Amino acid sequence: MALHSHIQKVLWTQDQISCRVSELASEISDDFRSIQPPPVVVGVATGAFVFLADLVRKIELPVPVDFVRVESYGSGTESNGAPTISFDLKVDIQGRHVILVEDIVDTGNTLSCVTAHLESKGASSVTVCTLLDKPSRRKVNFELLGKIKFYRGFECPDYFVVGYGMDFAEVYRNLPYVGVLKPEHYK
Ligand code: PRP
Ligand code: MN
Ligand code: MG
Repeated sequence: MALHSHIQKVLWTQDQISCRVSELASEISDDFRSIQPPPVVVGVATGAFVFLADLVRKIELPVPVDFVRVESYGSGTESNGAPTISFDLKVDIQGRHVILVEDIVDTGNTLSCVTAHLESKGASSVTVCTLLDKPSRRKVNFELLGKIKFYRGFECPDYFVVGYGMDFAEVYRNLPYVGVLKPEHYK
């Protein structure tokens, strides 16, 4: 069956995402323009790959780009609460500011794991840029820690969303928009 027919509702269209990504990239470019050396942009694979690709092409700074791979959802819709890093950075981030790029921050477990990892590798600061933020499901409260600045694309309602990099059981990452599946496909 065709990919798009699995979608019940589109939450953000390709155009809406593109406009918001431009705004985030220009904020980041302005905020980091005078920082030397420029920040290292680190995407959390797999989910962040589409957002990262669009975002970095709109950032007007000479930034290195790299990935870590972390996952905790496996093939289901619930975090197992224990994200593991299965693929590490190539770029040396010792003494560098890092912009950590995520597709979505849900419980916060992944972000908290990656942030600790980047700090252990000597990052001088970690700033988060996430396309979607789902604060209703947060278990780790970053704002209270007071040390992490967030750039957010959109606040996400409490749905399990797919598309624009985000998957259900590794499928739907290639949808160019963010949406919700028809219930029969969450199986
Ligand atoms: C998803 C998503 C985020 C994380 C957010 O990754 O891409 O990285 O979950 O959830 P959390 O805030 O509750 O930790 P997932 O573990 O599904 O791996 P993937 O990126 O390879 O899909
Ligand atoms: Mn992920
Ligand atoms: Mg996933």
